[in-house]
Amino acid sequence: MNICVIGANGQLGRHIFEKFKKNNNFFFFSSSLKKKQFLSGNLTNTKILLKKVKKIKPKIIINCSAYTQVDLAELHKKKAKLINSDSLKILSNYCFKNNIFLIHFSTDYVYSGIGTVPWKETFKCHPVNFYGYSKYLGEKNIINSKCKFIILRLSWLYGPFGNSNFVLKIIKNLKINKKLNIVKDQIGSPTSTNLVIQILKKILIKINKNEMISGIFNLCPKDFISRSELSYFILKNYFKKNDYKNMKINEIRTKDLKLMVRRPLNSKMNINKISNYLNIEIKSWKFYLKKYLLSIK
Ligand SMILES: NC(=O)c1ccc[n+]([C@@H]2O[C@H](COP(=O)([O-])OP(=O)(O)OC[C@H]3O[C@@H](n4cnc5c(N)ncnc54)[C@H](OP(=O)(O)O)[C@@H]3O)[C@@H](O)[C@H]2O)c1
Repeated sequence: MNICVIGANGQLGRHIFEKFKKNNNFFFFSSSLKKKQFLSGNLTNTKILLKKVKKIKPKIIINCSAYTQVDLAELHKKKAKLINSDSLKILSNYCFKNNIFLIHFSTDYVYSGIGTVPWKETFKCHPVNFYGYSKYLGEKNIINSKCKFIILRLSWLYGPFGNSNFVLKIIKNLKINKKLNIVKDQIGSPTSTNLVIQILKKILIKINKNEMISGIFNLCPKDFISRSELSYFILKNYFKKNDYKNMKINEIRTKDLKLMVRRPLNSKMNINKISNYLNIEIKSWKFYLKKYLLSIK
């Protein structure tokens, strides 16, 4: 069963590459040729990409590519839409015609962030910025193609690859400034790429057995936390007491940041669908984050 991974040099793509690189059935595409195993190809030119994919005859395509810079997406709408939406129309139509299962990643930013109830997959989407909107359009393109698909909506992603996730940013800024202003009104669950890969493995097994149904699934750890409480948790679990006693986290509100681009406040996602469907117990975000903090010390 051949599997193509697109966007292999991103935060998630690179972690998938490291986990599966010894498997001869995996083919990794990237616009950066940082690894000799990477094949050149990305979603800005689907014609060239699909020409190469055709030769591999995959049963599954895993798309890790995305235009993920939320502020820049507002300025470069055409590019963001090309990568997060338009290209997926071509990719998913190709998957439909060739009976390929498409695994795609989306985001909590497709939800409006209003209220306090954790979002279910069936709730109406209402993105508040262009990044979220382009990801939502991408989801719709995949669904409309009628290909077999899994869309995993992730939130607050972090992992060992990629150097600008929020955990690393907090640590770096605490080291420099000792005092940080962090919002207390954005609530969600930090999602480790390790958890995503654990779920992905289960999905691959199910697809191989022809047991996987198409659908959208929220995926994040159990329990929720505000960005400021999360920063405090990072501070206490990463730094030694002697160091962190001089550090301070000030709680502010998102509106005080006067951001150009809106962020959803309520990013809480209900994960019953995925944990019931895969029969897996997903642990609290504390479990995954503690392990990660130990690994980067
Ligand atoms: N990061 C988060 O906090 C977060 C939260 C929720 C959901 N998600 C979703 O999770 C998935 C993985 O996110 P991630 O954090 O791993 O993303 P990432 O680190 O930004 O990587 C995305 C990859 O997409 C490709 N890409 C981006 N811009 C491109 C361009 N202009 N031209 C060609 N290729 C381009 C690149 O892959 P190559 O260099 O290999 O070509 C890039 O490494 C995405 O679907 C994202 O929307 C992320």
